[in-house]
Amino acid sequence: MLESVQKVHDESRQGEAIAPLAGDTRIYSKKFYIESYGCQMNFNDSEIVASILNKEGFGATRDAEEADLVLLNTCSIREKAEQTVRKRLSDFKKAKKARPGLLVGVLGCMAERLKSKFLEEEKLVDMVVGPDAYRTLPSLIQEAETGQKAVNVLLSREETYADISPVRLNSNGVTAFVSIMRGCNNMCTFCVVPFTRGRERSRDPHSVVEEAADLFKNGYREVTLLGQNVDSYYFVDEAKDEIITFARLLEKVAAISPLLRVRFSTSHPKDITDEVLFTMARHENICNYIHLPVQSGSTRILQLMNRTYTREWYMKKVDRIREILPDCGLSTDIITGFCTETEEDHEDTLSIMEYAHYDLAYMFAYSERPGTLAARRYTDDVPEEVKKSRLAGIVALHRRHTLESMQQDVGKTFRVLIEGVSKKSENDLFGRNDQNKVVVFPKMHYQKGDYVMVKVEDCTAGTLLGKVVEG
Ligand code: SAH
Ligand code: SF4
Ligand code: F3S
Repeated sequence: MLESVQKVHDESRQGEAIAPLAGDTRIYSKKFYIESYGCQMNFNDSEIVASILNKEGFGATRDAEEADLVLLNTCSIREKAEQTVRKRLSDFKKAKKARPGLLVGVLGCMAERLKSKFLEEEKLVDMVVGPDAYRTLPSLIQEAETGQKAVNVLLSREETYADISPVRLNSNGVTAFVSIMRGCNNMCTFCVVPFTRGRERSRDPHSVVEEAADLFKNGYREVTLLGQNVDSYYFVDEAKDEIITFARLLEKVAAISPLLRVRFSTSHPKDITDEVLFTMARHENICNYIHLPVQSGSTRILQLMNRTYTREWYMKKVDRIREILPDCGLSTDIITGFCTETEEDHEDTLSIMEYAHYDLAYMFAYSERPGTLAARRYTDDVPEEVKKSRLAGIVALHRRHTLESMQQDVGKTFRVLIEGVSKKSENDLFGRNDQNKVVVFPKMHYQKGDYVMVKVEDCTAGTLLGKVVEG
């Protein structure tokens, strides 16, 4: 199966091990090792799992060899993601043979999709835990310790883990993710998420604001509010007789401090409202950047995908964004080779890319997922070679667009939040501008967490290069 060609994308972040928390001086009797796959929400879930395990006396380790408990937090979005996990599980087979006491657990979307089938197929797995069942991990571990197989894949209509503060692992201390909702009700026909994550539910806004305010107090300067479809966030605050929409929530988080930047992801084009766009325009610390997955430029394919908008409707949404937020960064997700896609549909995707001129795109070949509406209703009939060549066309066009978008920024000055030392040179720092572009510049006396004005002098396909003109 073909996969994403963009390494930076959340869904292609694969198999990152979580490091122990710096400065955590507690003594733990046991150690857990967790590897996360998939989207930012899944990574955020691993931090919730870490918090639950810490309370149970398990400390995090980056070395699977010294762990008593190995967990894989998995993703099912494309077949390739699942294959990677299966391969990883076979690595642990050897470790388990050598150390029979070692417990291996599968968490997340693949656990939810396969349920106890996992125990039959992957003989070495001791625990299978779905995304809404992490509170029960302590009892599941106890059960597994007695030699029984432990499974909990119940999905919930209420669980948001609102009261659990995620343990910030692998963090740069400047930027953090805050989940504001779980699940998805959209039923895009290609997508497995509604089956693996269950019904959509919004988290109590007080707990969101509290978490963001705590992060700010601890030195963080940017939060990204996460959900599969953030614009459908909806919470009825009965005590105050108030309805909190996503725009209201954004406003509340932005009010914490002008020094705290606010980002969000993902926006479904059908749900992003003018109210959200105007809220972004009103608050300087809400970043002008929108991830607006188009999936396809063909109205016929969009209908088969059940995206509920047409090509023209999407284009009007892009016009509206540009009208209200003229300098807004725009990124997208594109699926190529969906069932029945013709050359003409493919041309429509290329032309909508020309229209929107994305700063960034995550591009995928369609991967049929068992149980989805598309798998049940349609035939995955676009040959792999055709998917591959269309994907190459989309990628080539996108490369031209990103480069043009970078070149247009040369000569401009941006406010940049410093995230750390550049990977390429110790004498340089890197951060991102409002539009989410990476900016690299000489270190001088600046530090991560600082805001600086950087004048861009040059660029590569993925990075703006400049100098600080004002601290
Ligand atoms: N909630 C987000 C997307 C989450 S999944 C939204 O609605 O936009 C991230 C991306 O993975 C999707 O936008 C889509 O482009 C891609 N994707 C999802 N299912 C896929 C499949 N079966 N094959 C290929 N790509 C897929
Ligand atoms: Fe999947 Fe569609 Fe929900 Fe996104 S909005 S998670 S693509 S069903
Ligand atoms: Fe993957 Fe589940 Fe996220 S399928 S993309 S980890 S919601």
